Amino acid sequence: MIPTVEWKDGIVRMLNQTKLPTEVVYEDCKDYQTVARGIKELWVRGAPAIGVSAAMGLALGARQVDVSDFDSFWPKFEAICAEMAATRPTAVNLFWAIERVKQFVQANKDKSIDAIRELLVKESQRIHDEDIAVNKRIGAYGAPFVSDDDNIITHCNAGSIATAGYGTAEGVMRAAVEEGKKIHVYMDETRPVLQGARLTAWELMEEKIPCTLVTDNMAGYLLFHDMVDLAIVGADRIAKNGDVANKIGTYSLAVLCKEHGIPFYVAAPFSTIDFSTDSGVDIPIEERDPREVTHVFGKVQIAPDGVNVLNPAFDVTPARYITAIITEKGAFRPQDIHHLSDPKRDTERFRVHP
Ligand code: MRU
Repeated sequence: MIPTVEWKDGIVRMLNQTKLPTEVVYEDCKDYQTVARGIKELWVRGAPAIGVSAAMGLALGARQVDVSDFDSFWPKFEAICAEMAATRPTAVNLFWAIERVKQFVQANKDKSIDAIRELLVKESQRIHDEDIAVNKRIGAYGAPFVSDDDNIITHCNAGSIATAGYGTAEGVMRAAVEEGKKIHVYMDETRPVLQGARLTAWELMEEKIPCTLVTDNMAGYLLFHDMVDLAIVGADRIAKNGDVANKIGTYSLAVLCKEHGIPFYVAAPFSTIDFSTDSGVDIPIEERDPREVTHVFGKVQIAPDGVNVLNPAFDVTPARYITAIITEKGAFRPQDIHHLSDPKRDTERFRVHP
């Protein structure tokens, strides 16, 4: 596993995932603006990784605010937080991380600005390290849903590089393999940005997990021919009613799975659940540059000049298509997610088991 994003000697190093799989390139970000640009331009992408990058970016931002008293610091820092929040609208982990950092700064307002700056670096590293630990717990809860010799289908990339490390959907696969199960994974290429072909294929091959690449429109063929036992995907935002926003094309795959009686699992940390969003229709969906659709990775033109293009980056899978949502607190029926909004509530009685 290679680092997705890290703090190193006052610099945020982001893995530029737009260069994968042919090149492994790290971008050295010396200011929060470069981190924000990296999130927008998908150097680092994937909901948890976006949150961790934003937190580190804010630690950089605090160093760029050249004042020494809290009353002058706070409005400037809030403006940096707002800029960071404007990078990508769908993954709620971005807003979760920004909110956590803001509350952390407020809780330390009595300290010197220099001390706050230092503490923020540590807090962003804590968010990073916690994410890896959370993913490992998701893996532990998810692995029992995978049986020996299973064929799994996944969409987009919810692997190690979509998180601080280990991955969510791929974390479940990794944990199943660590338990000694033999699995085989089909990954959809995931048009238009090809996270499945470029990133998931690369990661699974690095991990030596047997895998086969298919185009998005081949999923129906696989299910029709009984070639898949279960689907596991990640999530960008889970609404209170259990609806899940994830990479465009997730919904079509979920409908196909329902038609064929194939279990459809979502693996995500609790920070992806947005209890303030009632249902999937309320989730803001990012609309990206038409060029992602008209050109293959910005290079080869595959559609006429001036064609009308729609490019929503995510879709919403209604709760009824989802077998279970696997989190670090256990696996739950999406319909039970709303019971979990109180962190003090015992989650045990809502857990589902394989
Ligand atoms: O546009 P992206 O690449 O950021 O979209 C990523 C996804 O949709 C992932 O499935 C999701 O963020 C979960 S990552 C653990």
